[in-house]
Amino acid sequence: MINREQFKQLLAGRKPQTAIILGSGLGAVAEAVKSPLTISYQAIEGFPRTTVAGHCGQMIVGKIGNSEVLCLQGRFHLYEGHTPQTMTEVINTLKAVGIKRLIITNAAGSLNPDFTPGSLMLINDHINFSGQNPLVGANDDNIGPRFPDMSNAYDRNMRRQAKELAAKLGLNLPEGVYLMVLGPNFETAAEIRAFRILGADAVGMSTVPEVIAAVHAGIKVLAVSAITNFGTGLQKTPLSHEDTMLGAAQAADNLTTFITNYVKEFCHE
Ligand code: HPA
Repeated sequence: MINREQFKQLLAGRKPQTAIILGSGLGAVAEAVKSPLTISYQAIEGFPRTTVAGHCGQMIVGKIGNSEVLCLQGRFHLYEGHTPQTMTEVINTLKAVGIKRLIITNAAGSLNPDFTPGSLMLINDHINFSGQNPLVGANDDNIGPRFPDMSNAYDRNMRRQAKELAAKLGLNLPEGVYLMVLGPNFETAAEIRAFRILGADAVGMSTVPEVIAAVHAGIKVLAVSAITNFGTGLQKTPLSHEDTMLGAAQAADNLTTFITNYVKEFCHE
């Protein structure tokens, strides 16, 4: 097991400044990483194990184009029993090794009739409906302020770049609001109706803790949802993890193209 300082030394020759968190069934971006160095989460102090099928729990460090990236293949969900503070620990470790921007992908259910399964949504804001917060506890003033501002949580400049790139690639990338639930059950139909009224376009069980911790740490965030299904009650069939994995597979090619091109174009230093 290596500590934060040893982890930093391990990455010293590469110095990635961009981290990418890959969501359920969306691990393919990691295949685009050249001369990869693979590090199991278990080898790093403070990194927990993942327990979900489709999340393998390792880090892949290497090049996409000319940019050094650190891909987190397999993420931690609160519904697995990980504490929200674990998210902060992971994000603060990324900050300690020099990460300046974080690209997050996730699988999400759609509440917006225009956002169909297999499509992508650029997250422009979120609603934290998880009932939890990764910054609960003593604040580390060296990392960030006690009461962080969230008015630019999904960095405007990165979103502008993302929209430009999507247009160039001929990809549909509408913006929308992501609502996080704790899970692990899929929502009831009444919850989905309520979330729509609240202003959400998509619902999922991840991302928000990482974003809050990253914003606190001064790491810029770009986040994209792969829409895998319509929310409960908006589609006729019951929901299952297998179906969301199928939806993720439909979106995966476009998402991989988008992320790899975004990194090549906008993540040089
Ligand atoms: N609800 C919550 N999380 C999800 C969904 C959903 O419908 N689809 C993929 N992740």
